[in-house]
Amino acid sequence: MWLGVESSCDESALALFDPTCGLAGEWVHSQISLHQRYGGVVPDLASREHLGNFGWLLKEAAATEGFDRVEKIAVTCGPGLAGCLAIGLSLAKALALAKGLPLVGVNHLRGHAFSPFIPLHAEDPAGFRARLDACLPHLGLLASGGNTLLFCIGKSLKINILAQTVDDAAGEALDKGAKLLGMDYPGGPLMEKTAAAGDPARFEFPAGIAEAADWRFSFSGLKTSLRYRLEKMDDAELERDFADLCASYQQAVVRQLTRKTRHVLRAGTYASLGLSGGVANNGPLREAMAALAREERLPLLPALKRHTGDNAAMIAFAGWVDPTGCLPAERLSFHPALTLTGEE
Ligand code: KG4
Repeated sequence: MWLGVESSCDESALALFDPTCGLAGEWVHSQISLHQRYGGVVPDLASREHLGNFGWLLKEAAATEGFDRVEKIAVTCGPGLAGCLAIGLSLAKALALAKGLPLVGVNHLRGHAFSPFIPLHAEDPAGFRARLDACLPHLGLLASGGNTLLFCIGKSLKINILAQTVDDAAGEALDKGAKLLGMDYPGGPLMEKTAAAGDPARFEFPAGIAEAADWRFSFSGLKTSLRYRLEKMDDAELERDFADLCASYQQAVVRQLTRKTRHVLRAGTYASLGLSGGVANNGPLREAMAALAREERLPLLPALKRHTGDNAAMIAFAGWVDPTGCLPAERLSFHPALTLTGEE
């Protein structure tokens, strides 16, 4: 049994993962309601909250069948907010010391990258390694509030980043656009709700870098374009066109994500396509990626909705699935700027 610990941003999370039969328990406390009034995550408040939350989360986990079978601890070691990472790292180090257990550090982005494979393991733990192998090379799209990446997981499980954003992340673009429209933080899910009643073809928003050979994402022009559009609208027009604006803006983000993924897919040979990170929660994005996978005759592995946001299940799972990608306990200090491939 593995214990996963995650505290890189505003979620305090624990999970128990048994490689022979799957997830035995998951606990996540989100601080969104606390940070909402500030329009974003306040690092100092977030670390204080973690300190308060891990006590009762651990009490709940410890009361769960299987906790006494924990043999290994995996903790997020970066990237993330330094003060927040410190709380999870301290908890994991203390537990490892008290229980005499081995401890490893897992890159938060590797957790997201491998999260689409959790359902595959749950379906058939014994046959998982063979099924994983059949999915490689895998092209993954990770879209969250802080990152937008296309990466390849090769046969050896080594991860190569193929494309990144040159400015805002996809989730950041949605949150900033939603803020311009007067919505609360995080705006991505609120925009999706409003967009459901709107026409995505009504307004034209910039598509990012147009050249097919240039795989880089760019979202910053999108919010500037929305700002200029809003400056020209009066209150009555804004009220009338609100849902259409949300639908068109969201569509521009989804379209860019799927268009770049298509270009990268067609330039290589892949056995599966993955979708992870907070923005992977978005219905229209999931539909567009499913359509792309059908078009390319590839299986789509989307992370489960509860594993798109930050969680500890993906940390324990990534620690188990590829031990060579873990940081040894003696190197476990702050790694706030860790990249997906493990470099700082
Ligand atoms: O991975 P994540 O939980 O954490 C960080 O990146 O820190 O991603 C959060 C991002 C936010 O930008 C949020 O607006 C976006 O994921 N998000 C969504 C949806 N749910 C979360 N964006 C669009 N549609 C959603 N349903």
